[in-house]
Amino acid sequence: MIGRINHIAIAVPDVTAAARQWETMLGATVSAPQTLPEHGVRIVFVTAPNGKVELMEPFGEASPIAGFLARNENGGMHHICYEVDDIESASQTLQAAGARVLGDGTAKIGAHGNPVLFLHPKDFNGTLIELEQVAATSERPQAE
Ligand code: CO
Repeated sequence: MIGRINHIAIAVPDVTAAARQWETMLGATVSAPQTLPEHGVRIVFVTAPNGKVELMEPFGEASPIAGFLARNENGGMHHICYEVDDIESASQTLQAAGARVLGDGTAKIGAHGNPVLFLHPKDFNGTLIELEQVAATSERPQAE
């Protein structure tokens, strides 16, 4: 069902400071910051040859990652995102198998403009999993 890893998301208290650290200490290629008010985050992407890491700082009062950062003051790994071809089919299959889809169980448009849903971390070894439907016609790097 799951395809390639689309991104790994890390919650950070200060995305500007985190971006600078990843650039200067790790030598990473980091995008310019983007604020996504409707998703309650300010993000940068760290691109590696075989994938990307998203550093996310809470934005606004109702940020969905505020609680996570309150419990993890220095930040931490928040979720891992896998690509799927058909998110509704994936959702139905997972729910039939007993996995809990967060929210009302239907996909929503995520931070990258594609349909996404999240699976309950208690069903997957304490890891929040995001599934993102990526159009089959989109350009994808070849897996190595
Ligand atoms: Co994500």
